[in-house]
Formats: sequence, structure tokens, C-alpha cells
Amino acid sequence: MPESYTIRPARPEDMPTMLEILKTVNMHHIPSPEMPELDWRCCFVAEIGDRVVGMSGYKILSATEGKTTLMAVLPEFRRWGIGRALQVKRMLILLDLDIRFLTTNADRPETIAWYKKYFGYQEIGTLPKEHEFGRPDVDCWTTLRTDLIAWNKAHKHE
Ligand SMILES: CC(C)(COP(=O)(O)OP(=O)(O)OC[C@H]1O[C@@H](n2cnc3c(N)ncnc32)[C@H](O)[C@@H]1OP(=O)(O)O)[C@@H](O)C(=O)NCCC(=O)NCCS
Repeated sequence: MPESYTIRPARPEDMPTMLEILKTVNMHHIPSPEMPELDWRCCFVAEIGDRVVGMSGYKILSATEGKTTLMAVLPEFRRWGIGRALQVKRMLILLDLDIRFLTTNADRPETIAWYKKYFGYQEIGTLPKEHEFGRPDVDCWTTLRTDLIAWNKAHKHE
């Protein structure tokens, strides 16, 4: 049975652990052209006891547009609903800030399917990677976009 986890805003001292988690999916190349920076002020972490096991981030692009930055859950803690909780958290905070549209780039087919299945995303295009980041065998991002107002109306969130 999954142990209970909590989601909380990241703190500066979480940065090394967030980078360790991102390293497990080859998304730790920061700063790089693909990810110039990771602002802990715009990140959430998932904790089990005092262990950080997952993270998600976001960025505000304009008064109506936001983008997700990075997200990963340690492989041994996946399929417990932690990724969903981290994703819902960043969607709700953007909605609170009156952001309506959220763009996400993903490269794993199972993750792309997951975003579309649960969070109202649609594929809007592809973007070549500037260098290796994430899955080494995939050289472009699939760009996804969701309407946060429509998603929020269609689902109930705790
Ligand atoms: C994408 C990612 C963050 C999802 O994290 P997660 O914690 O496994 O996410 P969830 O547990 O919420 O959902 C994953 C699956 O587990 C299922 N699940 C959730 N709780 C479950 C439970 N208690 N028992 C069984 N299955 C469960 C979900 O239904 C979902 O299945 P589906 O995709 O077949 O519908 C994680 O897979 C990851 O780190 N991937 C690699 C990096 C990556 O692609 N990051 C995104 C960058 S854009």
C-alpha cells in the first residue's frame, strides 16, 4: 500500500534533491539552452516523511499563459498518484493567478498519454530539442496545451 505523501511549495534547500530526482530522468541539465534556470519559488515537492520523492515546476509567460517547467517522481514511487497531485497543484496555482492556458513539452509517449487522459491537454505541435535532455532516443518535444478553466469545470479537485 502506498505510504501517505504531502505536497508543499519547494524551499531553496530542496534544490539539490530536486536535481537528484531530475537526474533519474536526464532532466537535470540546468542551466542549459533547454532549461536556462529552475526557480524553486515556482516549484512544488512531494514528501514522504522527510524524504522528497518528486517535484513539479511552472513558469508564468503572460497574463493568460503559463508553461510547466519540469516534473519527475522517483521511479520507485510512481503510480501512487503523486505525479497527479504535483500536476494538479501547479494547475490550480496558475488558475488562482488567472492564467487560462498551460503549455507543456513532453517526450515520453506514456507521459504524453497521461497528460491528455487526465488534464485536458491536446497536442499542438512538436519542437526539436536543442540538445540531449530527457529521453536520449527522442529528439523532439511534443507540445501540449490545456485550457485550465475548462479542465477545472470538468473535474473536481481536492
Ligand atoms: C510523469 C510522472 C511524473 C507521473 O508520476 P506518477 O506519480 O507515476 O503519476 P500518477 O501515479 O499520478 O499516475 C501514473 C499512473 O499511475 C496510475 N495510478 C495512480 N495511482 C495509482 C494507484 N494507487 N495504484 C495503481 N495505479 C495508480 C495512474 O492512473 C496512471 O496510470 P495511467 O497513466 O495508466 O492512467 C512520472 O511517470 C515521471 O517522473 N516520468 C518521467 C519524467 C517525465 O516524463 N516527466 C514529465 C516531464 S514533461
